[in-house]
Amino acid sequence: MELRKADFGPQFRWGVATAAYQIEGAVKEDGRGPSIWDTFAHTPGRIKTGENADVACDFYHRYREDTALIREMNFQAHRFSLAWPRILPEGRGRLNPKGLDFYQRVIDRTLELGLEPWVTLYHWDLPQALEDQGGWTNRDVVGWFAEYAAVCARAFGDRVRHWMVLNEPAVFTVLGYLQGRHAPGRRGLSSFLPAVHHAALAQAEGGRALRASLPNAQIGTTFSASYVQAAGPTWLSQMAATQYDAIANRLFLEPALGLGYPWKRAPFLHLLRPYIRPGDLERLAFDFDFIGLQTYFRQLVRFDPLMPATWAREVPHEERGGELTAMGWEVWPENLYHLLKQFAAYPGVRRIIITENGVAYLDTPEGGRVHDPKRIAFIQAHLLQVRRAQQEGVPVEGYFYWSLMDNFEWAEGYRPRFGLVYVDYATQKRILKDSALWFREFLG
Ligand code: FCB
Repeated sequence: MELRKADFGPQFRWGVATAAYQIEGAVKEDGRGPSIWDTFAHTPGRIKTGENADVACDFYHRYREDTALIREMNFQAHRFSLAWPRILPEGRGRLNPKGLDFYQRVIDRTLELGLEPWVTLYHWDLPQALEDQGGWTNRDVVGWFAEYAAVCARAFGDRVRHWMVLNEPAVFTVLGYLQGRHAPGRRGLSSFLPAVHHAALAQAEGGRALRASLPNAQIGTTFSASYVQAAGPTWLSQMAATQYDAIANRLFLEPALGLGYPWKRAPFLHLLRPYIRPGDLERLAFDFDFIGLQTYFRQLVRFDPLMPATWAREVPHEERGGELTAMGWEVWPENLYHLLKQFAAYPGVRRIIITENGVAYLDTPEGGRVHDPKRIAFIQAHLLQVRRAQQEGVPVEGYFYWSLMDNFEWAEGYRPRFGLVYVDYATQKRILKDSALWFREFLG
């Protein structure tokens, strides 16, 4: 099948995505307060490469040129996140006018270039001041977050039509509060379970806070997802896959759709009950205008009685026989097709936007060019899967490539390069990779 932009339809949105902490730098400038990622990245041993995002891509000072690159590649939409501690340095209460001002400029510039701003409220950079009071494990975070959402709606709602409440709650709760591999580096069920419930509540309350002042906005939220397959035919292996799928793909989506937590599939989720108060199960639901699907790989899982809670263990990507990326992730494009079908099967899902999909390689410039044929192949193969799902009636209406440019990949540091634009961190020089030139042509 040949790929043509027109086949995706006139309503289909083409964009690129980034997140504040991964690109902005300027962490101490203009009154920004510290976030859990500043603390985490400055704790020895937390980031594999020992790096931090104090400077990152210096987007804070280079946003004018960087947004122009989005235009140059012929995209229509610019997804970025707001840093909560830039706007409310202590997380609540005192507003920082210079922080608000920065995002006003980014939004103005985005619009001036003819691009749509798509704004994420929370992409993992919780104000450290709130973490000091328990962070996502403290039920008060739901109110703090709703207050922050209301501030953003009032400040930017006249020009921003597309909003996303949370970025991948399953990832920031599992990696940040269960496994300790991401900020704030906490471990164990006693942190994880309350963090899950409060993030799920905040997801809906954030939606309601936006809706209250912006009745005409398009409000969505984003979910990490991995199509799950059992590695073997046995009943135990199927059971492990079911439990894994509940955590990976349903934990936050189903409560938002009014279906409650997926505890039938994953009985250990009954452990959430002590954190649930009367009326909470209704409060978890919100009628999102669109669902943001984000995916990078499938999961193949096998039964393992030693794994707590799910009895499921991932088959290591390198044992699956496929091509691997710089993240060590298997390339398997059908993953995107199956997830689109799985998400579209819920009656409450009206529109799906792929708010992140992309690939990291160890790109290097050669004579002023960056040849990344494997990224172009990855994108094309994934777009074909989007078309396949669309032809079967899935209401998928957008694709955002992760990421606009190479950036700070959390605990992995700067080594994996996800960008369409190459960043030379020593000089902050940008180079459009061949994949960027491919998009420019394809979308032109
Ligand atoms: C997603 C994150 C994003 C980026 C990509 C590679 O889980 O939302 O910030 O790190 O993975």
